Amino acid sequence: MALERTLVLLKPDCVQRRLMGRVISRFEDKGFNIVAMKMLRVTPELAKTHYAEHVAKPFYPALESFITASPIVALVLEGLEAIRVTREILGATSGLKAAAGTIRGDFSGSRQMNLVHASDGPDAAAREIALYFQPGELQSYEPSLTPWFRASDEG
Ligand code: CMP
Repeated sequence: MALERTLVLLKPDCVQRRLMGRVISRFEDKGFNIVAMKMLRVTPELAKTHYAEHVAKPFYPALESFITASPIVALVLEGLEAIRVTREILGATSGLKAAAGTIRGDFSGSRQMNLVHASDGPDAAAREIALYFQPGELQSYEPSLTPWFRASDEG
C-alpha cells in the first residue's frame, strides 16, 4: 500500500461556480492530507507544459483558452493510493459520462469544463507537482485524526 502524493487543480469553472469548498471537502472527507495549496493564474506557457501530451490535439486551443481564462487552485493531496483514488473521486473525463457520486458526475455536464484535474500516474504526479510547487512549499504533518480513518493493523 503506497503513500502517494498527487496534483489536483480546481479549474476556472470550479472557482467561478463557487464549488471550491465542496470539492475540497470530498478529499478531506476521504481522509487525504492537503500538503500544499495555492491560487494562481495559468499562463499559456504553463498550459502548454502541463498539457504537453494534448498540445497537438484538436481540442487543445479551446482547452488553453479555458484553463487560462480565470484563476485556478492547485493543491497536493497525500494519502494511501492517492493517485488512483483521487481519479476515482473525480470520475470519468466527461461530466456526462462520469458516475453519479463522483465530483464530475454530480457537478459537471461537460468534457472540457470538468471542474478538476488530477495526475493520472506516479510519473505524471511527480512532474506536475514540480510544475506548480517548489519542494519547500510542501508540508509534511500527521493529523491527529489519522487513527480514526484506518486501523493500525491494516498495514
Ligand atoms: P484533464 O483531466 O485536466 O485532462 C485534459 C483536459 O482536456 C481534460 O481534463 C478536459 O478538460 C480537456 N479535454 C479532454 N478531452 C477533451 C475533448 N475531447 N474536448 C475538449 N476538452 C477535452
